[in-house]
Amino acid sequence: MNKNLIPENYNSQNLVSMWRNFIDWDKRRIGEGNFLVNQFHKHNVKKVFDAALGEGCDSIYLIKQGFDVTSNEIDKIFLNKALEYAKAENIELKITSLDWRELDKKLPEKFFDTVLCLGNSLSYLFTEKDQIDVLNQFRRILRDNGILIIDERNYQYILDNRKEILKGNFHYKGRYVYCGKEVHAYPIEISDQRVKMEYIDKRTGEKGYLILYPFKHGYMKNLLHKASFKSVEQFSDFKSGENINADFYQYVCIK
Ligand SMILES: C[S@@+](CC[C@H](N)C(=O)[O-])C[C@H]1O[C@@H](n2cnc3c(N)ncnc32)[C@H](O)[C@@H]1O
Repeated sequence: MNKNLIPENYNSQNLVSMWRNFIDWDKRRIGEGNFLVNQFHKHNVKKVFDAALGEGCDSIYLIKQGFDVTSNEIDKIFLNKALEYAKAENIELKITSLDWRELDKKLPEKFFDTVLCLGNSLSYLFTEKDQIDVLNQFRRILRDNGILIIDERNYQYILDNRKEILKGNFHYKGRYVYCGKEVHAYPIEISDQRVKMEYIDKRTGEKGYLILYPFKHGYMKNLLHKASFKSVEQFSDFKSGENINADFYQYVCIK
């Protein structure tokens, strides 16, 4: 487990304890404006595979909306946090703890109506081979015409403005995906190969870190086509189309 993954991205108690405030669960829902449920209705989704559970924000919400959700998390600290939050809301999570690159060892083909890989998660992987292998793994467990919903940060903005950002001028609306007011994140190292993000809780000064792979403009779309999805629709901060000023891009990909 965790082979070729950056060890610094795992077992960070600090990061996990800040994550709920970093997201702001209510504001994430306001920001997406029913995007997920609308897509699910459009594509007749009932069975969901949330590939990156994190601390449970999306899985818990979707279970409450009546979907049949399987939630995957390989990081024990994130998983325990999600179980704690679910228990507090009297919700039972159906858990798997699989590395995305090995889903085929445990999960049947064509089993799910949708796979979610949200919160900028694919950028934990640093090689194109790993990224495409994982997209193929996701496609494999989708039924025909099922949908992968995946997102990414607007890394091109970060790459293009690295000098200004490293001086402290990181522009981020904070209205989509990661919306917390008390926990902020900004890049502290930027290269074409990796971006190191620092997360700080402004109330306590507590810090956490993640090292992520910065997808360039067009890279994700290209990956999705290489992974043979028959159609890919791009959204920018949940609005159809491409806006270079968006903070996050979402892709709805049909198998
Ligand atoms: C940035 S967190 C996002 C969590 C959540 N979806 C959210 O929106 O807050 C990234 C997640 O991807 C998971 N992850 C990263 N690489 C993985 C891999 N190779 N296999 C399975 N999970 C992985 C991490 O454990 C973590 O839960």
